[in-house]
Amino acid sequence: MKQLWEISTTECAGSKESIMLRGNVYQIANGAMGYRGTLDEFGPAEAVGITLAGIFDQVGEAWREPVNAPNGGYTRVSLDGTPLSALDDTVVAHRQVLHFRDARFERETVFAVGGKKLTLRSSRFLSVVEPNLGVIRLSVSCDQDADIAIATGIDYNIWDLNGPHLRELTPSQSDDLLCVDARTHEARKRVAVAEAVATELGGSQPLVAENRNLRRFAFRARAGEIYVLDKFFAVFAEQDSPATPPARGALELVKRARQLGRDACLAQHAAEWQSRWARCDVVIAGDDEAQQALRYSLLQLLMVAPVQGSANSIPARALSGQVYKGAVFWDTEMFMLPFFLHTYPEKAVELLRYRIRTLDGARRKAQTEGPGYRGAFYAWESQDTGDDACTYFNIGDPITGRELRTHFRDKQVHISGDVALALWEYFRITGDDRMLREGGAEVILECARFYYSYAHFKKDRGRYEILDVIGPDEYHERVNNNAFTNAVVRETFAIAGAVVAHLERTHPAELKTLLAKLDIAGELPAFADAAARLYVPAPHPKTRVIEQFEGYLKLRDASVEELKAKMVHPNEYLGAGQGLAVPTKLIKQADVVMMLNLFRARYPTEVKQANWRYYEPRTEHGSSLSACAYAMVATEIGEGERAYDYFLKTATIDLEAKYKVYVGTTFIGGSHPAANGGAWMTAVFGFGGVLIEENRILIQPRLPRKWRSLEFGLEHRGDRFQIRITADRVSVEPALTNRHEHAFMVAGEPVTCARGNPVTVEHGRSKPALSGSRAI
Ligand code: BGC
Repeated sequence: MKQLWEISTTECAGSKESIMLRGNVYQIANGAMGYRGTLDEFGPAEAVGITLAGIFDQVGEAWREPVNAPNGGYTRVSLDGTPLSALDDTVVAHRQVLHFRDARFERETVFAVGGKKLTLRSSRFLSVVEPNLGVIRLSVSCDQDADIAIATGIDYNIWDLNGPHLRELTPSQSDDLLCVDARTHEARKRVAVAEAVATELGGSQPLVAENRNLRRFAFRARAGEIYVLDKFFAVFAEQDSPATPPARGALELVKRARQLGRDACLAQHAAEWQSRWARCDVVIAGDDEAQQALRYSLLQLLMVAPVQGSANSIPARALSGQVYKGAVFWDTEMFMLPFFLHTYPEKAVELLRYRIRTLDGARRKAQTEGPGYRGAFYAWESQDTGDDACTYFNIGDPITGRELRTHFRDKQVHISGDVALALWEYFRITGDDRMLREGGAEVILECARFYYSYAHFKKDRGRYEILDVIGPDEYHERVNNNAFTNAVVRETFAIAGAVVAHLERTHPAELKTLLAKLDIAGELPAFADAAARLYVPAPHPKTRVIEQFEGYLKLRDASVEELKAKMVHPNEYLGAGQGLAVPTKLIKQADVVMMLNLFRARYPTEVKQANWRYYEPRTEHGSSLSACAYAMVATEIGEGERAYDYFLKTATIDLEAKYKVYVGTTFIGGSHPAANGGAWMTAVFGFGGVLIEENRILIQPRLPRKWRSLEFGLEHRGDRFQIRITADRVSVEPALTNRHEHAFMVAGEPVTCARGNPVTVEHGRSKPALSGSRAI
């Protein structure tokens, strides 16, 4: 039976891959840092990683990537002089658990040495109340009297992919506090880790050796007695405390935490998690597998949600390590943002502020990237400054060892529109124009300006076209009129007009200042013209299929199996110049289907059906972003079982780790927050059938047969609802704090819902699905 609030395993050693994998699956994070799911005594060989959010470093010509901190969670226990490790054959039992309720990692390992059995327990969390703080409770007990030693402190042997990023690592010990101070290589930013313990074990001896700043407790343990040690570690980087040196900030924090005590720290942390779950949980009755996987996905998102006020975003591999350069892709806006927007808008604000904060980087990219580009061309792989971390030769060919020219950086232009759409969506869902006024409107106008400089006006056809791009399907590069891209570009122009109209009505003086600052007023009519005359490939009148890009339908048909059979290397990249997929119709990930999902209110069911059926057998799902798009559209076209399969694929990706670990020669393993967000979207938008229209919320349930009920919270325009769907009824429970009356269309029935007035609507699975669509 699946546990609904935890996962556990009895494995602790094994191959390098399995240790790596558990490091991902059992990681914990708190938005400021991620701590991989490794064991107390592990080191860099086991890929221990404390990956910091928002601080990056480059060594030489290697990839710039996030900084991993020294490990303040390190402990090594010895029994009668034998150091214990879960990697050795002294292990007789092991169990480790990740608790979803409070994002806590626990291990219990029993070691046997010389006929004695020692049990080591530890329980670790990264505080969501004090984002620089980690807390560990360790306990040991032995079944016989024994000499036990506990060496605990900070290990500054650091696992890096392209490091070493920290230099001048300096250990210090004073007043029973440990510290390691360091500087990054590139910008010489200070990073410091401090550690304090609270224990009744008595005195300890300093032990600084082999890049570990430790203290050692040695004592004679009595049989059966439990010896406890609480550990507090803090990680500060220069940006966390501009006024105070990071070492001081870290030392002060561990002292404060120790004074408060581990239990109080945990109580604060757990209370905050409880309120997160109260807002964001999705409850599925009747399907434990789906419930566990979905909840795990939500845990992942909530753990990596940026710290309030940080204006940080979530990288494509979250905080699970340095993979993908710790970079932020379109994954955030298109796949993760909806979850936060509809359940936890304060976190959506941070994600959007990140794009506002990095606007100058996007401007620099437009200026340097292309002939006459203007405005904001957002980075395909964005780090702290918004400059593009994506290289022109971003993939290594495992066959020849050569670098392959890819055009992700210079041609995947839909990224700017993805950002613009996200900012507008925040306004549409929350009704709050703060983000627009605090830089979002500027971003949107600059994105429209970029697209105008990128678009071509074809006089003979009387239309604008977007040429020479990569759409979401990265196997076909430099294509013309990619349906997804054109639709996003057209929407960006439309949004630019809508933003101006909104500000004109509500904040005319601010608008005037903004238009003057950007010197853009004269360009607005051109944006409006582009919004009206930009070409977006339409469904074929007979087949209803939308051609992914010009010429796609003339390519050769090929199945995934056929191409896989031709591969000469298991990690061979199927795209770029010579890739096997290039001359064929095989696509890497949802592209037209992605567009149909993004603009799902605009396309009729028949078009969705025709395209889903056409593209689905031609999609490799070579990206973790693909399955949820197919899942969501499948729910709308009566492909319930396929929808469910794709849903599980999305929701279990990080639990089961069935994903590519290499693309070409590049290691890409780690967690998949976009798929986690896709799992939420599939549950709520897909099976729940939630669609937010202009003035009402549509709920058109299409639950998988075995789900007895689906329950979730939804925030809308500052109010909150708890929605519960069963096979025959939908109930909408407004929060007691709601201020407005809201219009709903529930299973085809218009209802309104205000505070104190919950609504229940009967429906039957047999009722025809309402597509909520209008033809375009
Ligand atoms: C996908 C992109 C995605 C990136 C990061 C690539 O494999 O094709 O769409 O943004 O991974 O997840």
